[in-house]
Order: sequence, then structure tokens, then C-alpha cells
Amino acid sequence: MLPLPLLCLTVLSLAATPSLAQQTSNTSAYLTGLIDKLNSVGLRTFAGQLGKLPQDVLHELEQGNKTVFAPSNAAFGDFAPTNLSVPVLEYHIASGAYDAQNIAHAPDHSVIPTLLADPQAVQLGGNRSQVLVVQRSDTTIFVLNQILNVTVLQSDVYQNLIIHTIDARLEIPTSFTSTLNALPQWNLTTFFAQANASGVIPRIEAAHGFTAFVPVEAAFGTGGGALGGASPSTVSTVLNNHIINGTSVYSTSLGTAGSYVSASGEPFSFSKNTSGTYVTSGNTSARILQSDVIAQNGVVHVIDALLFNNQSDPGAASSVYSIATASAQSQTASGSHPTGTGQSSAGAATLGGPNGWATAFSAVGIAVGMALIV
Ligand SMILES: *[C@@H]1O[C@H](CO)[C@@H](O)[C@H](O)[C@H]1NC(C)=O
Ligand SMILES: *[C@@H]1O[C@H](CO)[C@@H](O)[C@H](O)[C@H]1NC(C)=O
Ligand SMILES: *[C@@H]1O[C@H](CO)[C@@H](O)[C@H](O)[C@H]1NC(C)=O
Ligand SMILES: *[C@@H]1O[C@H](CO)[C@@H](O)[C@H](O)[C@H]1NC(C)=O
Ligand SMILES: *[C@@H]1O[C@H](CO)[C@@H](O)[C@H](O)[C@H]1NC(C)=O
Ligand SMILES: *[C@@H]1O[C@H](CO)[C@@H](O)[C@H](O)[C@H]1NC(C)=O
Ligand SMILES: *[C@@H]1O[C@H](CO)[C@@H](O)[C@H](O)[C@H]1NC(C)=O
Ligand SMILES: *[C@@H]1O[C@H](CO)[C@@H](O)[C@H](O)[C@H]1NC(C)=O
Ligand SMILES: *[C@@H]1O[C@H](CO)[C@@H](O)[C@H](O)[C@H]1NC(C)=O
Ligand SMILES: *[C@@H]1O[C@H](CO)[C@@H](O)[C@H](O)[C@H]1NC(C)=O
Ligand SMILES: *[C@@H]1O[C@H](CO)[C@@H](O)[C@H](O)[C@H]1NC(C)=O
Repeated sequence: MLPLPLLCLTVLSLAATPSLAQQTSNTSAYLTGLIDKLNSVGLRTFAGQLGKLPQDVLHELEQGNKTVFAPSNAAFGDFAPTNLSVPVLEYHIASGAYDAQNIAHAPDHSVIPTLLADPQAVQLGGNRSQVLVVQRSDTTIFVLNQILNVTVLQSDVYQNLIIHTIDARLEIPTSFTSTLNALPQWNLTTFFAQANASGVIPRIEAAHGFTAFVPVEAAFGTGGGALGGASPSTVSTVLNNHIINGTSVYSTSLGTAGSYVSASGEPFSFSKNTSGTYVTSGNTSARILQSDVIAQNGVVHVIDALLFNNQSDPGAASSVYSIATASAQSQTASGSHPTGTGQSSAGAATLGGPNGWATAFSAVGIAVGMALIV
């Protein structure tokens, strides 16, 4: 792997910045300096947005390491109005120092927490903040699973901040349905029809934290395949065996610890081999085709087969849901913007995603936004 001269520089400069204790507590001086810095590296338009950040967010920005994804002036070009809302700005700031060293190399990716925890925009349970999916090649950092492919053009440092200039604005994750509709690479027609008809979609939309393994069209076969003639209650049971209710499990945690139980009360298991990462329910396994598609209230992993498990255990389902809910409620505001990533270099399966997007299972883990591991 080639070194990344620019980013190595980043790390050195960051290490040379004053410690937290030495940092100024003068938010207005800090902000003035930041705006000057952004202007000096050509990020005039983004700099002009920061003044609208509320005091508590500015204070948060100064604490500990943060990484700012700052859209270039050109990225604002054809966007009217130019103004980014506060939640959108918060989604452009990650908790933690994410230079190349702390971002997984393709085909892995990292899932990192942002400052966006506004309950109008995020419903992950408790005060869990929304996440970004990032990846690097030997030379470049990308933000994945956005509508546009977002590329880091340049990296700079200001005090406790790594500033990545990006070539497009980041979009706040939306509802389950509109998130999936924004994935033109997958035909999910039958999944939607079945999930809508059986009432599964509204339940996912209403969840505060969910994980959905969503099968592509080919998984159903002609005429709806195995679910073609099934009763609505069987369809509901089977589809609920594709969902974890109350917990957003990013691929970085699948299979690494704990066990997960579906909304029908059946256990999931996960495995990896040279052909990819698999999820199993009952007697069927499916390969994960694209992981960590982020919705406002959970996460989607697209899979290649229907998990045809028509068994259910309502007691187990409700117990797991209660534990997830209790865990979310015990999250205090201080836990709302957890930082950092624990990186491990455990082997990862290579999954070529659509359009070359690497969407593999990654062993780079974080502790945020994901709920408990029972
Ligand atoms: C904060 O910084 C600004 C700009 O440098 C300065 O005018 C102001 O007096 C400072 N306030 C405090 C409390 O240090
Ligand atoms: C901030 O990042 C630097 C460089 O990666 C690291 O040495 C330091 O421990 C970090 N500080 C905190 C508070 O995480
Ligand atoms: C952006 O917001 C500022 C105030 O926050 C306002 O003065 C300005 O006119 C707005 N610009 C646009 C293009 O809406
Ligand atoms: C998706 O699948 C459905 C059902 O098989 C089919 O009718 C439709 O044409 C497909 N859509 C696309 C865009 O391929
Ligand atoms: C979902 O179901 C409702 C009523 O059951 C129906 O009105 C709506 O058209 C369906 N939507 C889709 C996308 O199938
Ligand atoms: C999660 O469980 C609760 C409580 O049983 C239920 O109301 C909700 O509909 C479930 N959500 C999903 C997505 O299954
Ligand atoms: C990988 O595991 C899946 C699920 O158990 C299995 O279907 C597949 O054949 C395995 N592939 C290889 C190359 O072992
Ligand atoms: C799995 O297969 C076995 C043997 O065919 C069957 O007895 C069992 O009911 C199946 N389990 C599920 C969850 O479908
Ligand atoms: C589950 O599927 C099996 C095998 O397809 C079938 O024999 C059984 O009747 C189904 N059970 C229910 C509750 O639908
Ligand atoms: C989330 O944060 C808000 C504001 O900081 C606080 O009022 C609320 O109690 C927190 N909720 C939980 C579940 O911690
Ligand atoms: C997104 O970026 C990756 C990494 O460079 C690239 O392979 C892929 O082709 C890009 N996808 C699109 C849709 O531009």
C-alpha cells in the first residue's frame, strides 16, 4: 500500500496541536479561526454556513477530535438555496479523527458517528447519532452509499479538526422507503409489494432503530416465488425474519459479537467465507450484496436470497425488543455523540458492490449508533 503523504502530514500536524486542556474555551475566537482556516483553503461557501451553528454544537465541535467533511465551493454551485440547515451541517461533522489511518481500506469500509442526533432527522433509538460510511483506496477517501459518490479532494487541519474537502454535499438519510427507492442498482419490486401488503413497511418506518435484510428481485423467483401463494400472516412472519426490531446493526458489527433475534423472534447467524458474508435464518442463507445503506431510523443490508423461515417466537421477539428499547432509553445525552473507532485488521470478505462500490463486511468497528449486543 502506498503511503498517503498528505494524510501522514495530517496526522503529524494533528499530533502537534495543543492538548484539549490547552485549547481555548473562547468559542467565538475558535469559530473565527476556523472560518479563517476554511477561507484560506478555498472553502468560502462552507465557511459562510458555520455561523448558524448553535452554541452547543460549536462547543461540541471544540471538544475532542472531530472530522469535518466540507463541501467545495463547486459542490454548492447548482444548489439553491445555498443554505445548509443545521442538521445537514451536523451530518458533515464526524466525532473522532478520521484521517486515512482511521478509515478502512477498500473493500472494507468504516461506519463513523456524526454530530447529527436531532430527533427530527434521526430516530435510531435513544439519542444515537446518525452515521457516515467511509472508505479509502491507496490514494483517496470516499463517502459511500450517498446518492452521489462523494470523494475527498484535499485534507487540512485546524486545531482539533481534520477538514476533508469533498466534491458534493452529504445528504441526510431519509425514510426506509425513500432510501431504498434511491438505490437504482437494485430491483426491489416484489419485496416492496409483499412488505407493503403485509404491513411490514409501516412498522419499519415507525421503528426507532432497525436492521433490515432486504432481498433483491431475483431472490423471490417468478410469481413471488416461495411467498407467491402464501397467506398475509406467513408473508409477515417470513419478512419479519429479515428484520431486527429496535437495533441498528452495521456490517462492522455483524457476526463479531453477540447474537441477534428477528422481529419474528427467530435467531440470526452470520458467517464469512471467500465468497462473501452470509446471513442465516432457519434453514436458509443469503449473501450480503450491499451493506450499510443508511436510513434515518436504521440500516439496510441488501441480500441475494429470501430467508425462507416461516417459524416465529413472539415471546423472544418481544423480549429482544424490550431490551433494545431499555438500552436506548438508558442512553444519556452524554452518550449521544460517542467518538472514535476501534480498528482491527481482521480479514474481510471481498464483495464487489454495484458500480465498483466496495460494500464489504468490514471488521472496523465502532460503538455508536448501534445498539446493544445481547
Ligand atoms: C474571545 O475572542 C474574541 C475574538 O478574538 C475576543 O474579542 C473576545 O474578547 C474573547 N472573549 C473572551 C471571553 O476571551
Ligand atoms: C486526537 O487525535 C490524535 C491523532 O490521531 C490522537 O493522538 C489523540 O489521542 C486524539 N485525542 C483524543 C481526545 O481522542
Ligand atoms: C441563507 O441564510 C441567511 C441567514 O441565515 C440569509 O441571510 C441568506 O439570505 C440565506 N441565503 C439564501 C440563498 O437563502
Ligand atoms: C423489476 O422486477 C419486476 C418484477 O419482476 C419487473 O416487472 C420490472 O420490470 C423490474 N424493473 C426493472 C427496472 O428492471
Ligand atoms: C401499499 O399498500 C397500500 C394499502 O394497502 C396501497 O394503497 C399502496 O398503494 C401500496 N403501496 C405500494 C408501493 O405498493
Ligand atoms: C417492534 O416491536 C414493537 C413492540 O412489539 C412493535 O410495536 C413494532 O411494530 C415492532 N416493529 C417492527 C419493525 O417489527
Ligand atoms: C460460503 O458460505 C455460504 C453459506 O453458508 C455457502 O452457500 C457457500 O457455498 C460458501 N462458499 C464457499 C466458497 O465456501
Ligand atoms: C429446517 O429443515 C428441517 C428439516 O428439513 C425442518 O424440520 C425444520 O422445520 C426446518 N426449519 C425451519 C425453521 O424452516
Ligand atoms: C412452514 O413451511 C413448511 C415447509 O415449507 C410447511 O410445511 C409448513 O406448513 C409451514 N408452516 C407454517 C406455519 O406456515
Ligand atoms: C436526548 O437528548 C435530549 C437533549 O439533550 C434529552 O432531553 C433527552 O432526555 C435525551 N434522551 C435520552 C433517551 O437520553
Ligand atoms: C464511486 O467511487 C468508487 C471508488 O472510486 C468508484 O469505483 C465508483 O465507480 C464510483 N461510483 C460512481 C457511481 O461514480
